[in-house]
Amino acid sequence: MKAALYTRYGPPDVVRITEVDKPVAGENEVLVKVAATTVNRTDCGYRAAKPFILRFFTGLRNPKPKRMVLGTEFAGEVEAVGSGVTSFEVGDRVFGYIEGPFGAHAEYLTTRADASVATMPANSSFEEAAASTEGSHYALANIRAAKISSGQDVLVNGGTGAIGSAAVQLLKSVGAQVTVVCSTEHVALVERLGADRVIGYRATDFTTDDQTYDVVFDAAGKSSFARCKRLLKPKGIYLSTELGPFPQNPILALITPLFGGKKVLFPLPKHDQELVEHIKGLVESGAFKPLIDRRYPLEEIVEAYRYVETGQKVGNVVITLQDGQPKERNGQ
Ligand SMILES: NC(=O)c1ccc[n+]([C@@H]2O[C@H](COP(=O)([O-])OP(=O)(O)OC[C@H]3O[C@@H](n4cnc5c(N)ncnc54)[C@H](OP(=O)(O)O)[C@@H]3O)[C@@H](O)[C@H]2O)c1
Repeated sequence: MKAALYTRYGPPDVVRITEVDKPVAGENEVLVKVAATTVNRTDCGYRAAKPFILRFFTGLRNPKPKRMVLGTEFAGEVEAVGSGVTSFEVGDRVFGYIEGPFGAHAEYLTTRADASVATMPANSSFEEAAASTEGSHYALANIRAAKISSGQDVLVNGGTGAIGSAAVQLLKSVGAQVTVVCSTEHVALVERLGADRVIGYRATDFTTDDQTYDVVFDAAGKSSFARCKRLLKPKGIYLSTELGPFPQNPILALITPLFGGKKVLFPLPKHDQELVEHIKGLVESGAFKPLIDRRYPLEEIVEAYRYVETGQKVGNVVITLQDGQPKERNGQ
């Protein structure tokens, strides 16, 4: 089968389309024929080994042979199941998130049947299902950690990224009042996602805003707790998707809660089957629909990486391996 392989850490062109052995489902695994996957910032981080700490998971000098095919998000069809699998059947359309084992940048992948995999939302195409787990699971981890609830005032910096666009939708679904910071060209887009108020970052420095917030969620990783502190209510929370340049955010998350005032939280996102089922429910209820920016065939994955690394993608960049649309089945 074809796979996007990288044998050393580095820029996008370390990735090559290569013929590799098709995987075989183990006893408790499913074999998925991948219809769509994404290139996201998580893939970029592992491929470039930035931050350095990621090498402890994928290999210190070079990626380990079993980690040479990246790809965390996938949607496709189950082609085979192991003898111990009862929860999925051949022909099921499934989607999921496989940070750790990876392997979605290929025509086939295997995953444990009890891992972050579920049958696809009924109202999603393969492309939408593939794009629905990475940004939303980071957004959910932060929203849950800060215990954001109805009526709270939240500012999202970077409401058009994969994480930010998911965060805006999920915050609206819990009833928060959401102010979004983005470029002027994306004002209409974030209003469609549910933003109550929009600040254009090229015209206005959002850290000088007069309003105060229960939570400032920097989903673009462009600010700091020090700069945003004045925006927070007395017990307000600062969240960021980046470690910070020093890297201070995880350290501040250990120290600031000790003082009982404004604090930083830096939750480690978890992903399991419950999470993917939860995302499925959000998609089916209409609370969340992933934004799709560009689509590339697997053969052009290096171009996809280059585009993602401009830092200007809007939502998600999809790699389409089949036609990307659900096929009609059973006459439906
Ligand atoms: N290392 C990892 O494993 C990892 C994993 C996931 C995420 N992250 C980090 O989390 C952050 C978000 O990831 P993502 O995938 O959601 O991002 P993304 O999709 O790459 O974000 C792109 C969006 O950011 C907006 N943006 C760019 N500069 C901005 C600024 N100065 N202020 C506000 N918005 C700005 C752009 O919108 P406009 O056109 O409106 O500017 C663009 O739509 C990134 O910093 C990423 O590195 C890291």
